[in-house]
Formats: sequence, C-alpha cells, structure tokens
Amino acid sequence: MSEAAFIEIDSVIPRADVVKRTARIGAEIRNLKLSGDLPDQTIAALNGALLEHKVIFFRDQGHLDDAEHERFAQRFGRLVPHPIMGAAKGTTSVLEIDLRQAGNRADLWHADLTMIDAYPKIVVLRAAVIPPFGGDTVWSNTVAAYLDLSPPLQRLADELWAVHNNAVDYTVMPRAREVDKEYWDKVYTRTIYETEHPVVRVHPETGERALVLGDPVRRFIGLPKYDGQRLFDLFQFHITAPENTVRWNWREGDVAMWDNRSTQHYAISDYGDQHRQVRRVTIDGEVPISVDGKCSVMRIRPSK
Ligand SMILES: [Fe+2]
Repeated sequence: MSEAAFIEIDSVIPRADVVKRTARIGAEIRNLKLSGDLPDQTIAALNGALLEHKVIFFRDQGHLDDAEHERFAQRFGRLVPHPIMGAAKGTTSVLEIDLRQAGNRADLWHADLTMIDAYPKIVVLRAAVIPPFGGDTVWSNTVAAYLDLSPPLQRLADELWAVHNNAVDYTVMPRAREVDKEYWDKVYTRTIYETEHPVVRVHPETGERALVLGDPVRRFIGLPKYDGQRLFDLFQFHITAPENTVRWNWREGDVAMWDNRSTQHYAISDYGDQHRQVRRVTIDGEVPISVDGKCSVMRIRPSK
C-alpha cells in the first residue's frame, strides 16, 4: 500500500477503529454505520482498507435491507447480477444464499464467478440468518500466497494459464446432497461459461500479483492433466495455508466485504441442517491482465 492510502484512511476512519484480525489478511472496521450516503472520503478510505487488508468486516449492520445494501455497494462500482442465478426480485444484484435451497453451500475454495472473464472485483455479503454454531467463512490472501512462492515457481506461475468453468464436478464433493446434484445438473450447468485466465493477474489498483485459481479450475493450458493437478495442488497449498487465512465467526447483521481479485474464500459446512442465509451483492470487475499484458478470454457454450 502507498503511504497516501494510509493517510487517507487515518483522516476519515481513526486508526483505532481498524482492527487487524491476522497479520496477513482481514480487518474489522468499528464504529461505522454503512449506508449509501457515506461521504466520498469514507468510501475512498474503505476502498483503501479493502486493498490493504483484502477483506474487511463490520458488526451490527442490522439496519441494512437489500435496497440499502445495494446503495452502499454501488458506491464502489456497477452492480452485476449472478450470470446464471440472476438477482432477487426488485434488486439489481442481490443473491440470496440459503441452505434450504439446493446448491447453496460454498464449501470449496474459490473466488466468486471466475468462470467469466470480468468476474466481480468486490463482493459485499450480509448475514441475515446465522445458526447458533458453525457456518464461519474463511478467506485467504492470494497476493501473499504468490509472494510465498520461490522465484522459480513464481516465474512458472507467471507463464501459466488455466481454464475455469462452472461444470461442477460433484463426484469429488463429499457433502453434496441429491437435491444439490439435481440443481447443478438441471439449472447451474444449463449454460457453461468458460474462461482462460492467467494463473497470475496484475491487480489493476495496487499492481500486486495475485494467483487466480480455486475450484472452478479444470486444467492448465498446455499441461498434461496429472502434471496440472499436482501444480494446482502446490499453488493452492500456499493459498490456503492457515497462516494465510482469516476466519470470521458471523453474527446476524454482520457485513463482510472482500476484494475478489486478491482473495479466495470457503464457507465451512459445519452447521448441519440449521438455517443459514446470507445475502450477496457483487460489483463489476475488470478483465484480468497477465504479467505480460494479455487479457483473459471467455467462451460461452451450451453444456447439452
Ligand atoms: Fe463464494
């Protein structure tokens, strides 16, 4: 982060109200009521905090409804609906994620919607119904993971490209229910979105290099399947190392906001059949650019 960004945060959000949750990722912002009417300087400071900490958390935002949630998020960019699931009635981009609906457990490491080229840059998630136990979310820092690689591995990653798509392989998902499988077969994979992304993208705002991987990766371009799987596991191992993550224990009314360009996340499925509902707003992203200046390429093709 530049010095200017720190000064900016200090001038509108007291440093004491920015409480780091781990050394590498995550900070809680205290004493701030989120709304669409916050001053421009506060929005800029929050964007700076987001770039620095990758995910920021806010307690006690129970006053937000879908409309105000969207008004707040819109201050950071254009809202976009889910390409397959659309948006809740009367909203631009609110996605209701509810255990009672099929296919709604996200217990895999991923960044949101990397099967498309310009996947969302920022996600704002609001906790509507949280069970008495379980249901935490974990985020990892994909910039720090890249920096943890030795220089030869960084150079290898810099050159690699991976194919991402939404052709869910539930045969490797031990907790998938029959209703989930039916949903994925009949709805989620009705249209396959497929994109070739560089394994390393240059962050458009910070210039940092971040790994772009996660569950939607199907293969690396130009590599045999099993070599690719081993390399994927090696890179993911660095992304999901516990020291590279932060875990949030939700309370109703919490908001988490993450930079989807420099993180992955995992919603832990450890709450049984208890009701859990979170509501998600997504902000349009940029097409990733590789270290040598090439853009991701998307293909859309019907699956059946
Ligand atoms: Fe997600």
